[in-house]
Amino acid sequence: MARIYAVGVGPGDPELLTLKAERVLRRTPVICAPVASAGDSSHALSIVEPFLDRARQEVIVRVFPMRKDREGLDEFWEEAAATVLDRIRRGKDVAFVTIGDPFLYSTFLYLYRIFRERHPDIPIEVVPGVTSINAAAAAAGIPLAAASERIAVLPATFEEGKLRTTLMEFDTVVLMKVNRVFDQVFAMLRELGLEGNGAFIARAGTDQEQVVFDLDSLVGKKLDYLSLLIVKK
Ligand SMILES: C[S@@+](CC[C@H](N)C(=O)[O-])C[C@H]1O[C@@H](n2cnc3c(N)ncnc32)[C@H](O)[C@@H]1O
Repeated sequence: MARIYAVGVGPGDPELLTLKAERVLRRTPVICAPVASAGDSSHALSIVEPFLDRARQEVIVRVFPMRKDREGLDEFWEEAAATVLDRIRRGKDVAFVTIGDPFLYSTFLYLYRIFRERHPDIPIEVVPGVTSINAAAAAAGIPLAAASERIAVLPATFEEGKLRTTLMEFDTVVLMKVNRVFDQVFAMLRELGLEGNGAFIARAGTDQEQVVFDLDSLVGKKLDYLSLLIVKK
């Protein structure tokens, strides 16, 4: 039976794609990529484009809106799932590409849930990828954890009280999706005396990579969605 591959394509640099991901992407007849809204270009697809042969492979782009409020999102995931299912039923393998790793806050997880619940017979193979966390830590020169240190990873959009507790309790805290709430997070870091302990990294592992240690300089600025904050005590 045809199968679904969930392929992690890393943070942006095609050299950070695994050999396995490259092999799967070259030989899979259908490639499916997510975009946040219609008309956008897919970051994941742009990373793997050098490995694709559009004359031989079908490339499908589907909208997966990115918002916290899940109301009305099911129809988008159902539509993408139906498209993938159609190709599988026709005996074609499908590779769904996601930035970083497919099992870390990825759009693929919505499809994964649908297929595991409703089509458990369809094999799904996950090809792990280099996460944005690894690429950001490398870019900033910040080791994520040593010896008995504890690390927490969470979306910065997390409830304020829990975010404060996490910042106090862990040695290293990685805040994903920080762009829209940066000013509030920075105010909290200042309150906790941690404003000098962080690094903001945007587009890690790409040629537009940006690493900022002076977090104060980012307050009030419009920040890239592809960015995260590492707080290290
Ligand atoms: C939907 S999550 C995808 C995470 C991805 N699956 C991974 O393994 O890294 C999107 C968030 O990942 C982070 N991100 C993804 N790519 C990034 C990059 N190149 N540099 C910095 N942060 C990135 C940002 O925090 C962004 O808001």
